[in-house]
Amino acid sequence: MELMGKRIVLGITGGIAAYKAAELVRLLIKQGATVQVTMTEAATRFIAPVTFQALSGKPVFCDQWDPRVANNMAHIDLSRDADVLLIAPASADFLAKLAHGLADDLLSTLTLARNCPLLVAPAMNLQMWENPATQRNIDTLRGDGVAILGPACGDQACGEQGPGRMLEAEEIVAELVAFFQPKLLNGKKVLLTAGPTFEAIDPVRGITNLSSGKMGFAVARAAREAGAQVTLVCGPVSQNTPRGVTRIDVTSALEMHAAVMQRAALHDVFIGVAAVADYRPRSAAEHKIKKDGNSAPSIELVLNPDILSEVAALPVPPLCVGFAAESHNLAEYAEKKRVTKKIPLIVGNLIQDSFGADGNTLILFDENGQLPLPPAPKLELARQLVARIATLLENR
Ligand code: PMT
Repeated sequence: MELMGKRIVLGITGGIAAYKAAELVRLLIKQGATVQVTMTEAATRFIAPVTFQALSGKPVFCDQWDPRVANNMAHIDLSRDADVLLIAPASADFLAKLAHGLADDLLSTLTLARNCPLLVAPAMNLQMWENPATQRNIDTLRGDGVAILGPACGDQACGEQGPGRMLEAEEIVAELVAFFQPKLLNGKKVLLTAGPTFEAIDPVRGITNLSSGKMGFAVARAAREAGAQVTLVCGPVSQNTPRGVTRIDVTSALEMHAAVMQRAALHDVFIGVAAVADYRPRSAAEHKIKKDGNSAPSIELVLNPDILSEVAALPVPPLCVGFAAESHNLAEYAEKKRVTKKIPLIVGNLIQDSFGADGNTLILFDENGQLPLPPAPKLELARQLVARIATLLENR
């Protein structure tokens, strides 16, 4: 229920993506929001208002002269108690109207008369999107403080391919959730590692661990929601990249080391969430190692570089945060890692709570002691961690 208590006015304009707005309303309601739908006349050609009435549980308004509004002030009344006005889909024509302050129907009038933030999710043919007139309008709207969500790139209803698709309903919901998070890391650059590494023994075998990447991806999402520019270096995982996060896929600890060391000095914060293999085979066999009678091969291991320690030892290091997963003696081992790696903050978790799970229990260790974060979904814990990091950055 990420949008519990939020009041959203959803404006729907004319475009084939209007059908996606039905799913959007369903998801917004599921997340606890109240949704008031307003449609343009063109939108009602694509999907009937009754669909949104049924999904939102509220009457849908389309007409400025709607006799149901006793004072005939729908354009004022509808947005007055809203936390946000979201227009999805926003057609090229409607964006042009907004950019020029036109108000010739209920939705454009209430948009002009709003006293709440405005988010728009453009949806149109790629040529319409790329047209300099549309791009000028988008620049104007950005300059006016309007948040532009998307558009995405891909197959279009007209058969063409390119930018102009409306974001999927889940992506718009994620953007709204992010919109409501405090912007504690605005303007900051955050670099993270996540997931396991895979140290090849031969072309098909290797040394790895059970990290799913969920914790690291949650921290990446929370940092981005907090307004940071986020780069996520991740080992082999099957997680979806949080919107707006730059993802760099690597396989081995050496690749992760190279990707991080290239970038670390340019960042304000480095967070090592990855379960990096401490050792790798000295060399990977070129061909599959064949079973040879009953004897087992021995594999010589060598130490991998410690990425976190190396970042912390840079001449001007970013604020470094480590993670420690332990099966026992969590406090003792985590604090020891914090001191050895010379980092201000380490996040301890128990292996049995954390690997692969959707939730976790964390303890933050810093020079002042420990702060337990009780069991919660990983994203919620990640947001609390981000708040702690923001405080450390302020006091740095
Ligand atoms: O991915 P999930 O399934 O969600 O699980 C999350 C997690 C359990 C992997 C995560 O919460 C976690 O605890 N990650 C750290 C695991 C660990 O114990 O790492 P470590 O003790 O090997 O290393 C301590 C710190 O040094 C970590 O920040 C690690 O990223 C870093 N390190 C370690 C070795 C190395 N060669 N380079 C490093 O940077």
